[in-house]
Amino acid sequence: MKVLVTGGAGFIGSNLVDACLQDGHQVFVVDNFSTGRRENIVADVPVYPFNIQDAKMDELFRKEQFDAVFHQAAQMDVRRSVQDPIFDAQNNILGTINLLQCCVKYQVKKVIFASSGGAIYGEQESFPATENHSQTPYSPYGITKLAGEKYLFYYALTYGLHYVALRYANVYGPRQNPRGEAGVVAIFTRMLLDGLEPIINGNGKQTRDFVFVKDVVAANIKALHYEKNGVFNIGTGIETSINQVFQKLVQLTGVDAVEKHGPSASGEQFRSVIDPSLAAQKLGWRPRHDLTEGLQETVDFFRNQNNAS
Ligand SMILES: NC(=O)c1ccc[n+]([C@@H]2O[C@H](COP(=O)([O-])OP(=O)(O)OC[C@H]3O[C@@H](n4cnc5c(N)ncnc54)[C@H](O)[C@@H]3O)[C@@H](O)[C@H]2O)c1
Repeated sequence: MKVLVTGGAGFIGSNLVDACLQDGHQVFVVDNFSTGRRENIVADVPVYPFNIQDAKMDELFRKEQFDAVFHQAAQMDVRRSVQDPIFDAQNNILGTINLLQCCVKYQVKKVIFASSGGAIYGEQESFPATENHSQTPYSPYGITKLAGEKYLFYYALTYGLHYVALRYANVYGPRQNPRGEAGVVAIFTRMLLDGLEPIINGNGKQTRDFVFVKDVVAANIKALHYEKNGVFNIGTGIETSINQVFQKLVQLTGVDAVEKHGPSASGEQFRSVIDPSLAAQKLGWRPRHDLTEGLQETVDFFRNQNNAS
């Protein structure tokens, strides 16, 4: 198939590009390099350095006639969404609408959308959250992800667009940006390997559902072959505290570091964990990497980067 990966120079998008190439698809990337990096795209893939809001998207879709689109491009920094909700909505809502307009106009067969199981449910009332959990996002970013899902539903209803929205939990793994605001695994790993001491926000008992990037990529590939529309949680159903992640990383890096705590981050969710049963039932997807395996691969990746530089 001819597939477009928006945000293909980013963390998840670039891992997805690799998997699509391995599956024999013809892959194209649109990325404005706001956070993505050229070196993340290892193979010889056509890369269009456009903003997804750009009118040039129409010309690209007309020329290439994509079969499917994996929509990963987004402003994904929750804090930035709070500081600048207009910028956030421009990228995540207007950008998504521009993309969906192109998909409908040029009869793209399938759109797979990167939604968020961490941000859409807000402070959870039940654990793990199923897809039916109340959706009360606590941030502009979460609102834009929910809006993206609603637009998909609207375009499906009105124009017959086929879509799958995947609500990712906390994704971690190779190529995650260790210098960003999000991505505790990448940040801690980088710091530990550089001999720096990470500071855990608050008491570190806050929990997240950590899912390995290769499992998230596998879910996208399953979604490509799913014949219906749907919205699925892509997580592990396992809650892990930030303290536990820190301890595992200390072990895996072999660094002599002790837990240090700072003030809590304001507005930070306390517990987040999502139920992946529906994805197992409908997509035949299950996470294959447990946390230790995934963290080991992540540590190896960052260590090799050290050796290469
Ligand atoms: N990392 C996570 O834990 C997580 C969790 C839930 C959902 N998501 C979603 O998954 C997707 C990928 O996230 P990621 O972690 O790989 O982030 P990332 O920042 O590494 O990737 C996003 C990519 O999109 C590009 N981009 C951003 N705005 C763009 C625009 N307007 N036009 C063109 N390109 C643009 C960036 O340059 C970057 O390459 C995002 O949609 C994000 O919201 C991520």
